[in-house]
Amino acid sequence: MTLHVDLLLKNIGQLLPMRSAGPRTGVAMQELEVLEGAVLGIKDGKIAFIGTKDSEITASEVIDCKGRLVTPGLVDPHTHVVFGGSREHEMALKQQGVPYLEILKQGGGILSTVEATRKASMEQLYDKASFHLDRMLTYGTTTVEAKSGYGLDKETELKQLRVAKELQQNHQIDLVSTFLGAHAIPKTHKDNPELFLEEMLDLLDEIKKEHLAEFVDIFTETGVFTVEQSRKYLQKAKDKGFELKIHADEIDPLGGTEMAASLEARSADHLVGASDEGIRKLAETGTIAVLLPGTTFYLGKSTFARAREMIEQGVTVSLATDFNPGSSPTENLQLIMSIAALYLKMSPEEIWNAVTINAAYAIGRGQEAGQLDLGRKADVVIWDAPNYLYIPYHYGVNHVNTVIKNGKVVVE
Ligand code: NIG
Ligand code: FE
Repeated sequence: MTLHVDLLLKNIGQLLPMRSAGPRTGVAMQELEVLEGAVLGIKDGKIAFIGTKDSEITASEVIDCKGRLVTPGLVDPHTHVVFGGSREHEMALKQQGVPYLEILKQGGGILSTVEATRKASMEQLYDKASFHLDRMLTYGTTTVEAKSGYGLDKETELKQLRVAKELQQNHQIDLVSTFLGAHAIPKTHKDNPELFLEEMLDLLDEIKKEHLAEFVDIFTETGVFTVEQSRKYLQKAKDKGFELKIHADEIDPLGGTEMAASLEARSADHLVGASDEGIRKLAETGTIAVLLPGTTFYLGKSTFARAREMIEQGVTVSLATDFNPGSSPTENLQLIMSIAALYLKMSPEEIWNAVTINAAYAIGRGQEAGQLDLGRKADVVIWDAPNYLYIPYHYGVNHVNTVIKNGKVVVE
């Protein structure tokens, strides 16, 4: 019997289905299934057919891909997309050599975004985040993790999370929400970070009740939260049934990587200063390394996370934009793919695994996003590129031709 689908993509140059039973770990990140001259059928928003160009299939609508590359929608597993204001004035300070943590210490940086976010209404935050998510979608990203952490008080943290929940319900992009109340120490609690952490923990019941976040995250860093404070905080969050993520060893190597692994966090993020022991532990526990090389690049540093060692030692590596107004103002995950190729020395195959399957697993969406397989959600990108090597190679521009979300063309 001939299969009839709603939408058929034909004349695909290369199709990357990214089919995998689990995340791609260590050297298995080299594996990449490439189908040449394939066709892809979509029915009721789901993938209904993957085959060759001679397959017997009819369709209500056909897109001629004219030899283009087709992949799953990209997954961005670490962003701070809900925030007020912007921080372009910090660029001059950076040029004068004022370090990121010094700007924060002087009440700027994250704390200046906190002020702007506290002042913003829910509607303003919603509209602004929606604008950034729209842009992500035009760049081929169909699933995004979003953190709070620009409130640092109960009211504003909840406001940010509620905005994320509304976006999750209304925006075309799929959103996964993380509570990052422990993102910095607010001025009011300068001398009592422990009290502040207690106050943030007090929010967890409300967050659970309203389904406002699945993950809890903390910024473990010099001048922010110590490893010991972070461990206690995260353990309590875990006991309440949250999964864990950690901003670990981003600037100073404090041992956050080891802590993340020992708590069996879902992911440990940044990891620029991760120790040998930390890397070994990630491989042992399966905590996913979410690397953010755009941040290292934008902070003007020359030492990047040791992706090669991580992969060789058996760590599951993923990549994200870290989109935020301070250390990484970009929605463009394609650019991060280029930076990963140039500075993390990741191969194109590793990079594609890192922004699809592994990214989906890093946010608990391994069963839904990051792969094109029968019965799965049809989140698909058609690229103006002849092959998969081309995206990290030709840098700084948007290669998207068409984005399909849940079977519908949303960008063309
Ligand atoms: O992942 N390091 C902490 N948080 C963000 C930056 C937030 C900001 O500067 O506003 C990061 O780099
Ligand atoms: Fe971050």
